[in-house]
Amino acid sequence: MANIEFFTGENIPLEMHKVRIVQKLNLPAVEYRKEAMEKAGFNTFMLQNKDVFMDMLTDSGVNAMSDRQQAAMMVADDSYAGSETFTRLENKVREIFGMEYFLPAHQGRACENILAEAFVKEGSVIPMNFHFTTPKAHITRLGGRVEELVIEEGLKINSDYPFKGNFDTVRLRKLIEEVGADNIPFIRLEAGTNLIGGQPFSLENAREVCGLAKEFGIMTVLDASLLQDNLYFIKTREEACKDMTIKEITRELSDLMDIVYFSARKLGFARGGGICIRSEENLKEMRELIPLFEGFLTYGGMSVREMEAIVVGLDETMDMDVISQGPEFIKYMSDELQKHGVPVVTPAGGLGCHINAGEFVAHIPQEEYPAGALAAAIYIAGGIRGMERGTLSEQRNPDGSEQLSEMELVRLAMPRRVFTLSQVKYAIDRIVWLYKNRDLIGGLRFVDEPKTLRFFIGKLEATSDWPEKLARKFREDFPNSL
Ligand code: F0G
Repeated sequence: MANIEFFTGENIPLEMHKVRIVQKLNLPAVEYRKEAMEKAGFNTFMLQNKDVFMDMLTDSGVNAMSDRQQAAMMVADDSYAGSETFTRLENKVREIFGMEYFLPAHQGRACENILAEAFVKEGSVIPMNFHFTTPKAHITRLGGRVEELVIEEGLKINSDYPFKGNFDTVRLRKLIEEVGADNIPFIRLEAGTNLIGGQPFSLENAREVCGLAKEFGIMTVLDASLLQDNLYFIKTREEACKDMTIKEITRELSDLMDIVYFSARKLGFARGGGICIRSEENLKEMRELIPLFEGFLTYGGMSVREMEAIVVGLDETMDMDVISQGPEFIKYMSDELQKHGVPVVTPAGGLGCHINAGEFVAHIPQEEYPAGALAAAIYIAGGIRGMERGTLSEQRNPDGSEQLSEMELVRLAMPRRVFTLSQVKYAIDRIVWLYKNRDLIGGLRFVDEPKTLRFFIGKLEATSDWPEKLARKFREDFPNSL
C-alpha cells in the first residue's frame, strides 16, 4: 500500500481501493456452527459457504476483481479456435514473462498434470524448495519422487530470516551429483512457498539455483501461482532489488527459467492457468496434451471471460499498490495475534496468516491431526473457515503409516481485496478467545479416508465431546453474541 503515515501514529494497512460491489454475510450462532462442523466431518472443505462468516479457506479463485477486470469480461471474444481473447492473453503473458510460447490450462494442477505427463517417468527425481500437494500428487502418480531442499531456516516456524523459501543450493548440488542429472527432468522453484507459510525466495537464490541447473543441463520450472506475494517481498526485503520495478523483477526472474506455470486462481485475480515455455522443443513435448486433457489450444478449459480478466489481472499484479494489500493485511493480523501470545509463523509471509497449531494445541498428538482440530475449533469459535496445513494434508507412506508433517499449521488465507480491517479484527478477537480456551480442544480421527489428497473430501470425527464443551464455554463467555 502507498507510503502514507498517520498523524496519530497508528500503524495500520490502508486500502488503496474502494468497494463497489458487496456480498451480504451470515454468521450463524455457535450451537449451529458446532453442528455444521460435525456434519462437515470436521473438514472445513466440506462446510457450506452459507454457514461461513469469514471464508479464509484459500485465496484460490476468490480474490476480488477490479472494475477494469469486470469491464474486460464484457468484451471477450468467444470462439473455440483462434479467439482474440486468447491472443490478448498470450501477448500479455509474453510481455510479462518474456517467453515465446504459452499453453492454456484450466488451473494450476492442470499445468502440473501436463508437466508431469510430459517429463516425469518411473524413477524421476524432482528437487523443489518445498512440495505442494498437487504437483507432488502428479509426480508420484507417475512413479517420480519429490526431494525437498528448502534451507534449514525455512522449517523454523519462528525466524527473522527474510527468505525462508530459499533453496539450499549445497544440498541441491549434492543431490544432483548423487542421483545424476539424467534422472532429474526438472527443478521446480515454488514462489511464495505455500506449505511453509507463504514464504518467499530471493532473486539471488533463484539465480544460484538456475545457475546450478544450467551447469548440469537441467530444466528449471517456476511455479508462479503465488508469485505476486513473492515479488512484493523481493522488492521490500532484497536490498539489491529495492529500486527495481515489479515488472523488472518479474522479468529478471523469468529470464532465469525454462518454463513458468501458474494458477490464475491466484496470480491474476481470476480463474484459469497456463504454461509459459521458452523453447520450441519443450513446447512440442507438451502441446498435444492440451487438447487431450484441457481443451483446444486457444482456451485450454478456461472461459473467455476469465481469460480477459486474467489479462487485466496480470497487469494489476505489476502494481505495488495492488500486490501489497495481501502481505500487509497478513502482517497486521500476525502481529496482533502475536501481541496476545498466539503462536504464528514469522516473519509473516504471503497468502494468509499461519497459526502454529503444533504449539497452540501442543497437547494433541500429531496422529490426531492438531492443525485439523484447530481449524475446526476456529470455525466453531467464530464462523471463520481456515485450512489445515499439517499431517492431514500429507499422503500416507507406501506402507500405510502416517507421514507426520514437518509443521502443523492452520492457514487463514487472505483473499486479496476481499476483507475489511474490522473483519480481520473480529477474526483476531475470536482466535485470541480460543487461545485462552485452548485446553478444551481435542483431537480428530478419520471415519472415511480417501487414498489421494485426503484432506479435500475426507471425513473425521472428534475423539471426545470437546466440540460440545467448546461451544458451551463460548455461550458462557458470550451469552448475547453470535
Ligand atoms: N501451486 C501452488 C503454489 C498452489 O498454491 C496451488 C494451489 C497450485 C499450484 C495448484 O493450483 O488450485 O489452480 O489447481 N493452491 C490452492 C491453495 C489450492 O488453496 O493453496 P490450482
